[in-house]
Amino acid sequence: MIKIAPSLLACDFSRLEEEIRDVEKGGADLLHLDVMDGHYVPNITFGPVIVRAIRKLTKLPLDVHLMITDPEKYTPQFIESGADKITFHIEVKKNPIPLIKKIKLLGSKAGLSLNPETPIESLDGFLNLVDSILVMSVNPGFGGQHFIETSCEKIKHYKEMKEEKSLNFDIEVDGGVTLENAQKLIQSGVNTLIAGTTIFHTKDRKKTIQLLKGTY
Ligand code: DX5
Ligand code: ZN
Repeated sequence: MIKIAPSLLACDFSRLEEEIRDVEKGGADLLHLDVMDGHYVPNITFGPVIVRAIRKLTKLPLDVHLMITDPEKYTPQFIESGADKITFHIEVKKNPIPLIKKIKLLGSKAGLSLNPETPIESLDGFLNLVDSILVMSVNPGFGGQHFIETSCEKIKHYKEMKEEKSLNFDIEVDGGVTLENAQKLIQSGVNTLIAGTTIFHTKDRKKTIQLLKGTY
């Protein structure tokens, strides 16, 4: 099953509740929350207080994408605030195993992400431990960027590894996902499309979500 995760970064935050309601009704499977600290990426977004507020507004699973230098320090707060999954970056945790274990011990799912420039094999040793891997298909920090084509190679690689080893993790892609490239990404092996601009900068979110899923 293909899952769609609207990225709230592109929503109208002055109408947060309506925006969430709209994608819920439109068939979103989870919500993607981009946490940025101004250190790991050159942008700042929001922290646990906002995650807690969003938690009150929806029952959809919250996938908290930590683009921060010290995910270990802040993970407990995000889980207490209602995160269902914590996704962090391999670039800041060369040995991610302790943090993956900690996240699970605290009752959350764990995801691992890698940036476009990070070697494809850097996640290979951890695929049996995570609930998802997130392939960044733009340089993290901002919505509305263009998809980096080499990301498809990564997706295919993880799909092959998943099948070879009979593993069960989700393969997510994040950044520059559009109606034009969605089906190609699904064919490459993605089962979760994260999309900000494509969903929130259109009027008919339901139609857009269906088009992304290929069910319209
Ligand atoms: C970028 C974020 C993405 C972003 C995607 O650093 O991780 O989740 O919101 O936005 P779009 O879909 O507009 O490229
Ligand atoms: Zn993200």
